[in-house]
Amino acid sequence: MENSFYITTPIYYPSAKPHMGHAYSSIVADFFARFKRIQGYKVYFLTGTDEHGLKIQRAAEKKGMQPKDFCDQISKTFYDLSSDLNLSNDDFIRTTEQRHKKAVEHLWNILEKKNEIYLSKYKGWYSVSDEAFYSEDEIEKADGKAVSKVSKSTVEWVEEESYFFKLSKWQNSLLKFFDDNPNFILPETRKNEVVSFVKSGLKDLSVSRKSFSWGIKVPSNNEHIIYVWLDALTNYLSALNFPDDKDKKYIDFWPASVHLIGKDILRFHAVYWPAFLLAAGIKPPKRIFSHGWILSGEEKMSKSKGNILDPLEIIKIYGLDPLRYYLLKEVSFGNDGSISKEKLINCINSDLANNYGNLCQRVLSFMERNLNLTIPSEIKFENSDLDVLNIYKENYDTLINEIDSQNLNKYVNFIQNQLFNANKYFNDQEPWKKKDNLLRLGTIMYTSLELIRRISILLYPIIPNTALKVLKIFNISENNIHFNSIYLNEFLKKNDKINTIPILFKKVEND
Ligand code: MSP
Repeated sequence: MENSFYITTPIYYPSAKPHMGHAYSSIVADFFARFKRIQGYKVYFLTGTDEHGLKIQRAAEKKGMQPKDFCDQISKTFYDLSSDLNLSNDDFIRTTEQRHKKAVEHLWNILEKKNEIYLSKYKGWYSVSDEAFYSEDEIEKADGKAVSKVSKSTVEWVEEESYFFKLSKWQNSLLKFFDDNPNFILPETRKNEVVSFVKSGLKDLSVSRKSFSWGIKVPSNNEHIIYVWLDALTNYLSALNFPDDKDKKYIDFWPASVHLIGKDILRFHAVYWPAFLLAAGIKPPKRIFSHGWILSGEEKMSKSKGNILDPLEIIKIYGLDPLRYYLLKEVSFGNDGSISKEKLINCINSDLANNYGNLCQRVLSFMERNLNLTIPSEIKFENSDLDVLNIYKENYDTLINEIDSQNLNKYVNFIQNQLFNANKYFNDQEPWKKKDNLLRLGTIMYTSLELIRRISILLYPIIPNTALKVLKIFNISENNIHFNSIYLNEFLKKNDKINTIPILFKKVEND
């Protein structure tokens, strides 16, 4: 469907409860989903948990639990993350669900039928932590143990019968696909990494394991468990009820618009996934966008390093919208970023409390004292008003293009500039000195209210709770926010009553 937008987060391993890195992926995906909805798209936003494989089996064993019981428990904390983070996801998929098993088996059967899979023997390294096969040149020794050069996770030697996917056969088709779809992998640096990896030569990929049981069985050979990444990647199809299309979800939303992922799982998404799909005769997704890591200090968070940042702790202290705002503004999208308390407090005090919150309060209390909370009935724009209003029309297409190329920092930057402009406008126009010129006073207040309305619409995908509180001034509710109204200079109805709102953000002491 032309007007549809399908965005996914990676499905998370329920091996431990969610941390800030997971929260980051989900918040960014939520931002895009909300933006496309107010742009008028039919959106499907998917997240979920990746529950099979040796990593989860071992984590369950460590707790003395059955893998399914273990997954039920931890998957619930990821499920709850949707309300904790105010995510607007349309679905939450678990790979232990029947609909998923059906899709994975179906995809496997297609690949087998098309002769893309054969039985042989795997002899090589495997990292349970990454659920990845590594070749000899991707391994190094650390403290006497073999580890992956990139992820530093321990690898084990594996020798067992395995099914292989004919990945090598797809090398040239993949390179052609990257050429034909230059924005398939973003950012550009990541694309270059992938292209050189593929050019360096692809080997056939082991896609089944025999030595453990926690997973989906190969339909034609019950001794084999389907490789957890082939299983997991298929979630993007199974949530659309692939291969059935009773409810038209698959027709409407496939190929996915964006798979949002972290840079550590790029190869699986940008090489293996399109290869599986091309081999099965299914269209690959339109884009893989790989973001950086949220670092704790200088390092990636991990359970083994004990440096996990808990998003719920931060939300308890500072609130959800400040955290969302911080992550979307301060982390340069595509690069690594860290959580700095000082910067978070600065976002709250300066951008949110001062520039946004105070602007709303000043304009509203002036409206209350002087115009009886009624939108002025007569207005006549002058150049100084049109200068601040017309910026929105002038930047409208650019803003949409920035979002469609995932340049979200530019979008946030535009909002910051408009907050600055709106505050400056209100100060410079000095409505308190225009009480003897009602037409001018009315026009200034109309313009100021218009700016608050537009900025709140722009902020809605970032800080939905707060933006909705502000939009209540104008009786605008969540399902009647339209992005294309941001450039309508006379959107607000004259003589309409407006509402007051409580203080939005309290300033935080920096101790
Ligand atoms: N289960 C796989 C994904 C399968 S998708 C078909 C997986 N799970 S994960 O829980 O380990 O990671 C999920 C996502 O979280 C990945 O995109 C990963 O990059 C991201 N993050 C994990 N730690 C992170 C940070 N510290 N910072 C930002 N994102 C990070 O991989």
